Amino acid sequence: MTDPLSATIPLHTPASTNEWWRSAVIYQVYPRSFADADGDGIGDLTGITSKLPYLRRLGINALWISPFYPSPQADAGYDVSDYCDIDPVFGSLADADALISHAHQLGLRVFADLVPNHTSDEHPWFQRALAAEPGSPERDWYLFRDVDPGNPDQRPNNWQSDFGGPAWSKTPDGKQWYLHMFDSKQPNLNWENPKVRAAFLDILRFWLDRGIDGFRVDVAHALIKAPGLPDFHHTRDDFLTGAIPTYAAPFYDQDDVHLIYRSWLEVLDSYPGDRAMVAEAWVQPYDRLARYVRPDEFHQAFNFAFLQSPWEAGALRQGIIDSYRSNDAVGAPTTWVLSNHDVVRHLTRFALDRLRPSGLRPDDPAPDYTTGLRRARAASTMLLALPGSAYLYQGEELGLPEVIDLPAHARQDPTFRRTEGDRIGRDGCRVPIPWVKDAPAYGFNDTGESWLPQPALFGQLAADQQTGRDGSTLELYRALLAVRRSRALGEGQLTLVNLGEDIVAFDVTTAAGAIRVVLNLGETGWPIPDGARLLAASDPSVSDEVHTDTAVWLTI
Ligand code: NOJ
Ligand code: MG
Repeated sequence: MTDPLSATIPLHTPASTNEWWRSAVIYQVYPRSFADADGDGIGDLTGITSKLPYLRRLGINALWISPFYPSPQADAGYDVSDYCDIDPVFGSLADADALISHAHQLGLRVFADLVPNHTSDEHPWFQRALAAEPGSPERDWYLFRDVDPGNPDQRPNNWQSDFGGPAWSKTPDGKQWYLHMFDSKQPNLNWENPKVRAAFLDILRFWLDRGIDGFRVDVAHALIKAPGLPDFHHTRDDFLTGAIPTYAAPFYDQDDVHLIYRSWLEVLDSYPGDRAMVAEAWVQPYDRLARYVRPDEFHQAFNFAFLQSPWEAGALRQGIIDSYRSNDAVGAPTTWVLSNHDVVRHLTRFALDRLRPSGLRPDDPAPDYTTGLRRARAASTMLLALPGSAYLYQGEELGLPEVIDLPAHARQDPTFRRTEGDRIGRDGCRVPIPWVKDAPAYGFNDTGESWLPQPALFGQLAADQQTGRDGSTLELYRALLAVRRSRALGEGQLTLVNLGEDIVAFDVTTAAGAIRVVLNLGETGWPIPDGARLLAASDPSVSDEVHTDTAVWLTI
């Protein structure tokens, strides 16, 4: 066991190759909420294309766009009814082609979001299955089980949907159950069926042919289920908190899932240009997650264990140690992330004294925005210095908080409905982005429509208010990304440095020299040594001391 407070610990040496994805900064676009060109209140692909110059100026390398496929939108597009087209609400295939080619002209790569665990119940594959007899080859594309006529309410097992309620629903004729690990409009595919596997290889090729640079793979750890679909004897919280390894759940992180991704990599590798895949796999412990980024599988896997760290120096430091240990063992980059469309925005999370991964309720004690912003800026300053790749979620560069006071009637996340409001859901991190303070819908479009209401605070946080303003969060991100790029920090070597229990500190060494990163979570200021040069600071007022909840990059 390493003592994290010994003087210095060399922790990470970069891989011998430096493919772009090892150190890329990738920006997640949630298309419903990014920019709405046609003014219907829902963002669209043309809106995204119009903001590509903004993303380029921000300094990112690639964008990942959450699902844009035809969908009944029962789970905001994660219920796909056609994997090879664009939902009219988002535009057309021609709009997708234009987006990809404009992005490429600006030197930005584009990831699509692939959803292989389940389809929409309105997908022709599921409709075809329902139209066919139980036991037919068409039904074998999904996980159907007979209803027991003697016990018609008895489900095939006790699995619960991730959105609340049982994971089995009856077919319209009442004769069979079908499995859905999410909403009942998201039936699970049967990945034991070779036809399902072949269909997805074709889908990969469809998008690769159109110039997509890679894929974010939805619930990548869920595709294979334990034989016989045995009951699960723990709770969802048990594996979310790491109390049990994820594979103890018979529907997650089963060994054979890896075979699927090996076959996908062969397809990606048959295309020119370093195409890549990132796994959305909520898998613990770290060494199990690292199995997804072995050399013949995914290129990246989101580091969600780190995302779930509390705002404590010891936890953050240990997360960094464990991440590099496990990923370096398989030669993979660590993929840092603090926010996405499923979790409470990190600005708000870090202002809480407890973690609430399932969202915040309007009647929860209001997190303090100023504390949250200070911590979020410090956290991102630290994160963007860590070697490896990093994902940003739209709006974090503007200092957007979670929106917690959305009225019940506005909420759209199926978890809210399925749990009868018990779990508040994820709408609070999905509110449309403010671009211009004095414009309809804060510049999200020019009609003022917005599929979720935007709070008044968004006006002062709008991008136009922050552009070119010294000390703004947007300019902080731009500055961090510029230094990260010029010094190739993502490809650096990392040594942990002991500056005290409440301080997370490390040196990142690259061909440009070493920088020291200091994040102070303690109450006492840390004096910047004489002769050190300040390269970046999460708080623009830093001069000779690093105060609490502040991070700096120094050359020493
Ligand atoms: C993970 C996605 O990120 C989330 O938004 C979605 O609800 C589930 N997977 C189901 O697809
Ligand atoms: Mg629109």
